[in-house]
Amino acid sequence: MLHGLQYLVQEVRQGRRRPDFNVIRAMLYYIDAFPEKLHHPKEDRYLFARLRERTTEGNAVLDQLEAQHIHGAKLIRDLEQGLLHWEMGGEQEFAAFAAEVERYADFHWRHMRQEEEVVLPLAGRVLTDEDWREMDAAFGDSADPLVGKDVERDFDRLFTRIVNIAPPPIGLGREI
Ligand SMILES: [Fe+2]
Ligand SMILES: [Fe+2]
Repeated sequence: MLHGLQYLVQEVRQGRRRPDFNVIRAMLYYIDAFPEKLHHPKEDRYLFARLRERTTEGNAVLDQLEAQHIHGAKLIRDLEQGLLHWEMGGEQEFAAFAAEVERYADFHWRHMRQEEEVVLPLAGRVLTDEDWREMDAAFGDSADPLVGKDVERDFDRLFTRIVNIAPPPIGLGREI
């Protein structure tokens, strides 16, 4: 989704495409709602919490990542503001929005890299079989006790809608 957003911004920047605010707004909503409501709370409550119980070795990086979960939510608010300014204020506001998209993307990729390169290997070393069963239940396809199946279905529907309305090559470009 984030790649899709970066792509659209790039297309507008290069004058190849007029902005489609419906699509961009839906993408931003998804990027905000999915990590906020599903992914980050699960990391904080299950993975990070269990890691802290098993070892203190990861505490510094887990503190950073938890702070980033909070900071990421603020960056999304800035993006929403930026989009509103662009939509209402016109072209002169575009550069600021485009810069915010890049800033958020950088921030997000860095966050993910830290999780993949530091947290997951640590989890591989210290979590027990029992812990992993708990992670599978929380992050897998089975019902999530925290948010429930309905929320996940809503995200699937929203994702499908965005794929439908986003222009090719990132989506199908159908009018709805
Ligand atoms: Fe995270
Ligand atoms: Fe993550």
